[in-house]
Amino acid sequence: MRTIRDLAALRARVRDWKAAGERVGVVPTMGALHPGHLSLVHTAKAACDRVIVTLFVNPKQFNSPEDLAKYPRTEATDAALLEPAGVDLLFAPDAASVYPPDFATRVTVAHLPEVLCGAHRPGHFDGVATVVTKLLLMTGADQGFFGEKDWQQLQIIRRLVADLNIPSQITGCPTLREADGLAMSSRNLRLSQSDRLAAPALYKAMEQAAAAIHNGTADQTALAAAEAAILRAGFSRVEYLERRGAEDLLPIDPATPRPSRLFAAAWLGEVRLIDNIPI
Ligand code: PAF
Repeated sequence: MRTIRDLAALRARVRDWKAAGERVGVVPTMGALHPGHLSLVHTAKAACDRVIVTLFVNPKQFNSPEDLAKYPRTEATDAALLEPAGVDLLFAPDAASVYPPDFATRVTVAHLPEVLCGAHRPGHFDGVATVVTKLLLMTGADQGFFGEKDWQQLQIIRRLVADLNIPSQITGCPTLREADGLAMSSRNLRLSQSDRLAAPALYKAMEQAAAAIHNGTADQTALAAAEAAILRAGFSRVEYLERRGAEDLLPIDPATPRPSRLFAAAWLGEVRLIDNIPI
């Protein structure tokens, strides 16, 4: 596996692959890799002849300089995980080459970013949309792989790729969970020992709410019970716990059934956890 930081070198490599008729996949990441990322790589390997992983801690999607500074930078460990997974190329550009001083473009998707995480993290999804647009165009990948754990992000990426005619197929990959149900995330490493024990209560409460709704309990009743259970388990705040349409993320009218999901964000100490499941 080669690590490339330079766009011209990346493009030359991809051009050669494509000239040989090879299908190129990309797994965009911000590093601090865990088995969830590696499952994206495995899916990409099965679907493509060549797999690029991008490693770029995107300053535009952080809400504060402190958060950006705290984000783990573990390139050597990440590379050591990716090499045996059969990744062909690690693209790890520096911030100045992705966003030169005169950079002046922002990709904004309408509506989808206004709810759930977007309502609590102003500008976050503009940052994600801008960098994902750039990464897909820089790599020229035929297919991009993203985790369903960030479901809202995935819907936003699908929208921008369709709207901007970016010739990359977008594939969502299922959330990987720890044995106790906690969704895998780089943030889990920041949980204290006691908070780590409390953390699976989020998924458990969501599952119970989804089952109750499925069996006819009113949304409001099921969601109130879930929120109470999450707080009882030791979470300090439930930022949101909502049922919404799976693709448009709009509120659900229980009288008109359509595919929906339960979405949650909740704080455990200093750590904000998110999760989503189908109903
Ligand atoms: O999901 C992530 O890790 C990031 O939001 C992404 C897609 C790599 C863009 O920076």
